[in-house]
This record gives sequence, C-alpha cells and structure tokens, in this order.
Amino acid sequence: MKKKWSLLMLVFAMSALLAACGGADATEKYTVATDNNFVPFEFMNEETGEMDGFDMDLIRAIADEAGFEVEIESMKFDGVVSGMQSGRYDIGIAGMTITEERAETIDFSDPYYDAGLMIAVSEDNTDIQSEDDLAGKRVGTRSGTTSETYIQDNHPDAELITFPGIVEAYMDLEAGRLDAVMYDVPNVQYYVANDGAGLKTVGDILQGEQYGIAFPQDSELVEDVNEALQTLIDNGTYDDIYEEWFGERKYGTESSE
Ligand code: ARG
Repeated sequence: MKKKWSLLMLVFAMSALLAACGGADATEKYTVATDNNFVPFEFMNEETGEMDGFDMDLIRAIADEAGFEVEIESMKFDGVVSGMQSGRYDIGIAGMTITEERAETIDFSDPYYDAGLMIAVSEDNTDIQSEDDLAGKRVGTRSGTTSETYIQDNHPDAELITFPGIVEAYMDLEAGRLDAVMYDVPNVQYYVANDGAGLKTVGDILQGEQYGIAFPQDSELVEDVNEALQTLIDNGTYDDIYEEWFGERKYGTESSE
C-alpha cells in the first residue's frame, strides 16, 4: 500500500516537473512572417482583427497537421524576404515566388501555388493591349517583387514606378497617374474583380511563377512542412482552402488534370 502511494507521488512529481520545464509534449510555436496586404493571400480581416486569406488558412492547416503552433506577424513584403535571410522569423508565407536568386539565401518548400504576372489598365484604355505597348508608359508595381525585376529586364523603355504597397499603385492607376500596373495574376484578377473601380486586365500571363513557403537557410522545418503540405494535398484539405478563395480548381496545372 505504502509502495503504491509513493509510486503515485513520484509519477505526480515527475509530471509536474515536465509541465514546468515545457514538457515533452508542449507544442512548439514558430513565428510566421507575412505581408500586410496581398489579396486574397493575406490581408487584415477587419471583422475578426486577424490576418486572413489563402496563405493564412494554408499555414494554419500545415501547422495543425505538423503539430506546431504559429504566431503570425505582418509586415511589408521586402521585410518578409529579409526576415528570412536574417533568420529573424521561422517561416515566411507571402505569395513569394521561388526564384533562383532568392534560393541562394533562403530555403523554399515545395511549390504550393501556380502564379505568373499580368497587366492591369484603366477600363477605357485602348493603347495598351499587351506588354508590347509599354514603351514610354508609366508602369507601377510593388518594390522588391518579381514584377519589378521583370519590368527592369524586359521593358527598359517603360517608366517604372515602384510603390511600398500595391494598393497605392492600383489607386494611382484608377486616378490616371499610372498607365498600367504589373503584378501577380491572382492579385490583379482579384483586385480588378472585387475592389478595382474601372480597371481591366490585358494580355497574357507574362511569366510562369510558383509560390513557395520560405525559411531561413538550412531550417529543419522544411521537411516537416513539405510533408504536411503533401498530406493536405492528398486528403483534399488543400482543395477546400483553394476553392474557398479562388473557386473550383484542383491542385496543379490545368494540363495535369
Ligand atoms: N510573387 C511576387 C514575388 O514573390 C510578388 C509577391 C508579393 N507578395 C506579397 N505578399 N505582397 O516577388
């Protein structure tokens, strides 16, 4: 009887000790850097006061699946990139295109979204029908993005104007201070359909891109996140999240269906 009692005490004491020092099963919490405004991937939901969007649903689902917690911090897009390089945050998700250049200083997950670049102009603009008409035009985009690089590389004759946030560029376009905006297809389409007053898209997708979740170099999280992402693709969770933000379409390129 006495033996049993002390054994119980021991178990009790040990579990208290474990709990006190964070215990074996305490869930890890990782910081996630995201952008402050990139519809419909991440934006502030004014009703809930929380960051919302496709990327937010995806990273929360990945965390659930992989068994860790996330603390989301929003910032300017270039802060997400530099926050990975400096190792200040554990994870970055911000519609970030996987590029060779970035991959030199940042690790990426497997691709989770197929995107590309597109041009928006004012609805009554007839001059600009594709990227071939950009010479001499005022073209806006967000600084530190693949669109900025694309315009510099392919349209040296355009007058490139960069903005800290893309909404400012769209507003300047609506106000007639810009002739065109170039940015990621899903964002341009979403903005034109939902917020953009009197804007339309023109031309084709200019450059195929894929988004990846970012990590500081050599992060041990890459593998866990890839595994969880694959599980969510296989079990249909990815598709549910996709449909919520973009409507019906299965994961992967149309041609692979
Ligand atoms: N995909 C582009 C890039 O990686 C633009 C990303 C912008 N993302 C954002 N959250 N504002 O450069």
